[in-house]
Amino acid sequence: MNLGLRNKKAIVCGSTQGIGKAIATELAALGVNVTCIARNQQALENVIQNLDTSLGQNHNFLCIDFADNEFSEKISVLSKSKFDILINNTGGPAAGPIADAESDDFLLAFKMHLLNNQALVQKVVVGMKQQSFGRIINIISTSVKAPIPGLGVSNTIRAAVANWAKTLSLELGAYGITVNNVLPGFTDTNRLKKLIEKKSDIQGKSIIEVENEMKKTVPLNRFGEAKEVANAVVFLSSPAASYINGINLPVDGGRTASL
Ligand SMILES: NC(=O)c1ccc[n+]([C@@H]2O[C@H](COP(=O)([O-])OP(=O)(O)OC[C@H]3O[C@@H](n4cnc5c(N)ncnc54)[C@H](OP(=O)(O)O)[C@@H]3O)[C@@H](O)[C@H]2O)c1
Repeated sequence: MNLGLRNKKAIVCGSTQGIGKAIATELAALGVNVTCIARNQQALENVIQNLDTSLGQNHNFLCIDFADNEFSEKISVLSKSKFDILINNTGGPAAGPIADAESDDFLLAFKMHLLNNQALVQKVVVGMKQQSFGRIINIISTSVKAPIPGLGVSNTIRAAVANWAKTLSLELGAYGITVNNVLPGFTDTNRLKKLIEKKSDIQGKSIIEVENEMKKTVPLNRFGEAKEVANAVVFLSSPAASYINGINLPVDGGRTASL
């Protein structure tokens, strides 16, 4: 199958490590010109330097904090170019029971995960409509199918993002623009390491014990690699995925107990 990604232009948010970095790496390897977004300038420079350029790809970055109140203005530069692919992704909300969450926790998560996604879409959608092609993919969580205990704010905000994305998919399909969500399961990144450390503290168990208990809940009996999530995202980003629109795709080793 020819994925047809060569010479496409993509924005990949949260791409200095973990799932976002794996997506940037895999897209670049298939000939995509990638603009990476994150907070850490040094890390962004390192990522850009290591992306594939063997097919003449040109990579850029934009250093910005998703918590910045001026986010929408600071990404204005993106509307000067036409992009084919937008990957909405950033750091997950802090863990904790929902009953303990404060209003500010919800407001920050809503801004970082929903308002910023909307701002990013508004910067790219005009160009996507003009070229009758676009791929918008949101990295959210399996919690849109079954809430995950101990991730109260995340569960709430992911559901909002899923419904926002579905609505967008209904509006933009007629322009050749698809909108889909990828739902990672336990994926071996710094985010997962931090969640495991917190669980081990709270439950008074060793890291290995916690990891083994978590792996037992996955039919494949292991954590996923960031690259395995990226592979699904790359396919959905490609012209080859032209008739897939408005879906929530778990990449979780079969862990989510729903259809
Ligand atoms: N890993 C999992 O098991 C798993 C499971 C389900 C869902 N998810 C979700 O998938 C997404 C990616 O997860 P991950 O595991 O790849 O996370 P990660 O390893 O923590 O990476 C997060 C990325 O987002 C960037 N980022 C974080 N906060 C930011 C901010 N305020 N502004 C701009 N960029 C920011 C980070 O770069 P800088 O630090 O340079 O800014 C980094 O590149 C998250 O929303 C996570 O909750 C992950």
